[in-house]
Amino acid sequence: MLVSVVACSTASPATQTGVDAGGDTSVTYSYPKGFLFGSATAAFQVEKGLTASDWSAWARTKGKIVGDGHPDTGGPDALAHVDDDVKLLVDSKQNAYRFSIEWSRIYPTRESFDRNEPVAEAVAAYDGLITKLVAAKIAPMVTLHHFSMPSWLSDVTKSNEPQGWERPETSTLFAEFARRMAARWGKHVDLWITINEPLNVALGGYVQGSFPPGVLLDVPRALALVKAEARAHALAFDAIHEADTVDADGDGKAAMVSVALHQRTFHALDPNESVDVEAADRVRRLWNLWFANAIVRGDFDDEFDLSYDGPNDKKADPTLVKRADFLGFNYYSDTLVSATRGIILPVIKAAIYQANLETDRPKSDFGWDIHPDGLGVVLDELAPYGLPLIITENGLADASDNNRARFLAEHLVQVGQALQRGVDVRGYMHWALIDNFEWASGFCPKFGFASYNSSGTRTARPSLDVYRSIIESNSLAETRVAAMPAYKSATEFCR
Ligand code: FCB
Repeated sequence: MLVSVVACSTASPATQTGVDAGGDTSVTYSYPKGFLFGSATAAFQVEKGLTASDWSAWARTKGKIVGDGHPDTGGPDALAHVDDDVKLLVDSKQNAYRFSIEWSRIYPTRESFDRNEPVAEAVAAYDGLITKLVAAKIAPMVTLHHFSMPSWLSDVTKSNEPQGWERPETSTLFAEFARRMAARWGKHVDLWITINEPLNVALGGYVQGSFPPGVLLDVPRALALVKAEARAHALAFDAIHEADTVDADGDGKAAMVSVALHQRTFHALDPNESVDVEAADRVRRLWNLWFANAIVRGDFDDEFDLSYDGPNDKKADPTLVKRADFLGFNYYSDTLVSATRGIILPVIKAAIYQANLETDRPKSDFGWDIHPDGLGVVLDELAPYGLPLIITENGLADASDNNRARFLAEHLVQVGQALQRGVDVRGYMHWALIDNFEWASGFCPKFGFASYNSSGTRTARPSLDVYRSIIESNSLAETRVAAMPAYKSATEFCR
């Protein structure tokens, strides 16, 4: 990796105040040297031929995916289009790419894992991608678990039995997988994400039932899973540091390891109801802070009651503390919370609403509120952990590309403003480089900077050129953002 994540300046970026043609005072943001401007994808969402993953079995189960979509039939087939995707990154001047290495592709069976016999074609495919990225001076950021789990650890037909992270052996096997991947690719990779969105894995799989293993409304099981993921992350963090001893970018650190949290803003469904206001704050602290408290401070809230004085709670637990070199987080939108209306979940004692909110904000094709200010809020919320911050995902479903350029620019303004406040932001990864399989929602939401046709040919959307110009000039003027076309709120939504 040639772009340094730790060596970049933590000082506020240069901000010029000027006078534009209309006589208005304007602010122009620029970003620190070495700032990572990238895009993101995940293996199961963009690759084909993943037959040994729980998500593959899940997606083949009738009725689980909108339109019964499956990445094998209609996906962008990224491993067959590495050159095309690297070209999209190069042409748009991006210097980072976040993608995941699929455990079940490398080790499709328990026997292959136990014998450490990785599939040669799988290793060659990721070798090809990583080598091409490095040759193009694009820093690879590798995620090791992005929702999908080998089917030898997660059986979607047996949701009443422990699956995935619930199985006691999973965390040590995952740490071993992480160790092997770090040993193999550490000479090129300095940026590692262990688990993507640990809370969403639990919410999707055990509350909403939309992810494997498809359990509905079992909050205690979901919370037990989150605890297992925290422990698995810590083990994998240690394993990566043991195995990746090569400083690929010469910044003095061989590996920078984190998770990709999913941060949101939270508001009361009814702001006049004090119980809703209290519930929104409670859910915010659990959703946004529980995991960071565990892996940064070692503060482990066993009962999820927001106290650290229960019988199994821990402060500064040596097995968890300081297991993040930076905080990676995905940010998309706002959540409304009610203590009285809707499905009141046990333990958190609230109902949560994430789509089609009754707000006057514009909506994406997915029904998510477009809420750039929230990025500034969550950056400020994570700043006190004292670690560099990297936005590992941010984007919107926008098939027409009407809104993506303004969305991107307004979020980068939030980053610029946070930098001015002294928040140590080191990078921004847009979700996604290319349209892809959006989990239970299939292929309807179009998150990509580029679309693809049935033969796999990529077509960049106009917003990618806006990203290119911001990166190339390292400059974003508020007047430019103000002149962009207003948002067109979607009126028909993907489910
Ligand atoms: C995030 C996921 C990512 C993608 C985006 C839209 O929660 O991490 O895989 O589905 O949402």
